[in-house]
Amino acid sequence: MNLDAPKITIAIDGYSGCGKSTTAKGVARRLNYLYIDSGSMYRAVTLYFLNNNIPFDKENREMLNALEDIHITFEINPQTGLHEVVLNGERVETLIRTPKVAESVSPVSIHPPVRHAMVRLQQELGKGGGIVMDGRDIGTVVFPNAELKVFMSADVKVRALRRQAELAENGIHLSLEDILSNLENRDTIDSSRAEGPLKKAIEAREIDTSKITVEAQIDTVCHWAEEIIQMGGNPTSPDFKRTKNNV
Ligand code: DC
Repeated sequence: MNLDAPKITIAIDGYSGCGKSTTAKGVARRLNYLYIDSGSMYRAVTLYFLNNNIPFDKENREMLNALEDIHITFEINPQTGLHEVVLNGERVETLIRTPKVAESVSPVSIHPPVRHAMVRLQQELGKGGGIVMDGRDIGTVVFPNAELKVFMSADVKVRALRRQAELAENGIHLSLEDILSNLENRDTIDSSRAEGPLKKAIEAREIDTSKITVEAQIDTVCHWAEEIIQMGGNPTSPDFKRTKNNV
């Protein structure tokens, strides 16, 4: 690996369940970049709200107080080498993937104080470049200067089938109808909220993953990334970093 190569920022946004995380993980592994799943942070906040009976139907004082008590960090899982979310010192990667959290996370993510806290943390994690982050507002709000922005979509039925298989691997068995309605519901809430809605950044490159393999998705993003890296990244971007000389 060329250590003089600029370390770029890669923002991957898109609909629920279209393969963003799998793609982002694969890209980060190949480029030796940090991978951060921003959805896991919103899920961790949701888990805290549910466990502590914090109402989230509308913005309220309890919610604001709770946000002060929520500390989200990441730790490497030695088995996978991936950074996993830690909520107030507890590893919650599995607990945040339950249907209850999936059902509540979009309503929680609407609230500007929740979003502001998460965006601040995400920007802090990415400030050195060399990161792949996936979510809904990464290219538009979190890293508006990212050198590479990708927007992913896929047919909703394909997404539901994939999500069903993924959940089954973790011992959670849900009907296709339930998964479809959760995905559609989340897409609607995520795309229509006032703050940081799911939206394609103007300059984002698009991938429809309905008919292509995960390997092809990773190849495509890595190819784009390598083109940009070879061009020297985007020196006008504040996120642009050179690992060696920092110029
Ligand atoms: O990526 P995911 O499906 O695990 O994300 C769960 C939810 O978190 C998603 O439905 C909306 C919210 N989210 C968000 O609002 N902004 C992000 N950058 C990432 C996720």
